[in-house]
Amino acid sequence: MTTWFKIADSLAEIPFQPNQLCIVDVGNKKVTLGLHNGSLFAFAHKCPHASGIMADGFIDATGNIVCPIHRYKFNMQTGRNTTGEGYYLKTYTAEQREDGVYIGIEEKGFFSFLH
Ligand code: FES
Repeated sequence: MTTWFKIADSLAEIPFQPNQLCIVDVGNKKVTLGLHNGSLFAFAHKCPHASGIMADGFIDATGNIVCPIHRYKFNMQTGRNTTGEGYYLKTYTAEQREDGVYIGIEEKGFFSFLH
């Protein structure tokens, strides 16, 4: 089941850093937002390799998020580890709707908060 959270009235309201990344609270999670060529992406706060803060990294020319710690790259849409180390970055659905910007969080079940 997907729970949708409205995080802003418009893209312009989101406090992106100069690297076009920022961290927002979505429900009880911290989520990284990335903006590339006008498209909004949402993904995990920390790197799946060794917990680098993804918002401290950068977006490369092809639209991958690059972790600040060991520079592993991930596709912001799919979470695929494009530099081939075999990790997977959790991604979320980001939607720009007429009345605002929404992030969808998948809830796996009642006990998912335990994991
Ligand atoms: S912590 Fe992100 S690549 Fe190592």
